[in-house]
Amino acid sequence: MSHLKQLPQMGYALKEVERLYPPVQNISRGVVKDIYYAGYCIPAGWYVDISPLLTHRLPEIYTDPDRFDPDRFAPLREEDKKHPFALVGFGSGPHSCLGWQFAQMEMKIILSKLLRYDWIVSPEPNAVVPVRQPSQFQDSLQAQIKKVLS
Ligand code: HEM
Repeated sequence: MSHLKQLPQMGYALKEVERLYPPVQNISRGVVKDIYYAGYCIPAGWYVDISPLLTHRLPEIYTDPDRFDPDRFAPLREEDKKHPFALVGFGSGPHSCLGWQFAQMEMKIILSKLLRYDWIVSPEPNAVVPVRQPSQFQDSLQAQIKKVLS
C-alpha cells in the first residue's frame, strides 16, 4: 500500500488514460427543472448526456488534446485543475464513483505487474481509435509479451 503512494508518474499515466479513453463514455442526468445555458433552454423532463470522451479533449483545457502526454498532470502544468469538471472519468459531485480509490489501487497493482513484460502491440498504438465496445478489438488488437523482470 505504501509503495502505491510513491508512484506519481504512474498516477499521471493512469489519469492520461482516463482522459483519452474514459470507460464510461456518457454520464446521463434527468433534467428536473428548466435550465438556461448558453442561450438555450433545456426543459424539465429531458435528459442531458455529458460525454467525457468529448470534454476530455477540449483544447481550451488540454494542450494538444489528442496527444498522450501524462506530464500534463504533473506539478506546474496540472491541466486538470483548470476547470472543476476537467477530468470526469469517475464522474463528479454527489454521485461520483464510490470505487474511485479502489479502482486507483487496482489499476496501479495491475499495471505494475504488466510492466514486468516487454510489450509489442499490433497494430501500432497510434492506429487504434477508441471504440464503444472493447470487444470490437478482439480480432484486431494483438500483443506479444516477454517477461523482463522477475
Ligand atoms: C476504472 C474503474 C471505474 C470507472 C471508470 C468508474 C466510473 C464511474 C462513473 C463515471 C460514475 C458516475 C456515474 C454518474 O455520475 O452517473 C461511477 C459511479 C459509481 N461507481 Fe464507479 N467506476 C469505476 C470503478 C468502480 C468500482 C471498483 C466500484 C466499486 C467497488 C465503483 C462503484 C461505483 C458506484 C457505487 C457508483 C455510483 C455512485 C452514486 O451514484 O452515488 N466504481 N463510476
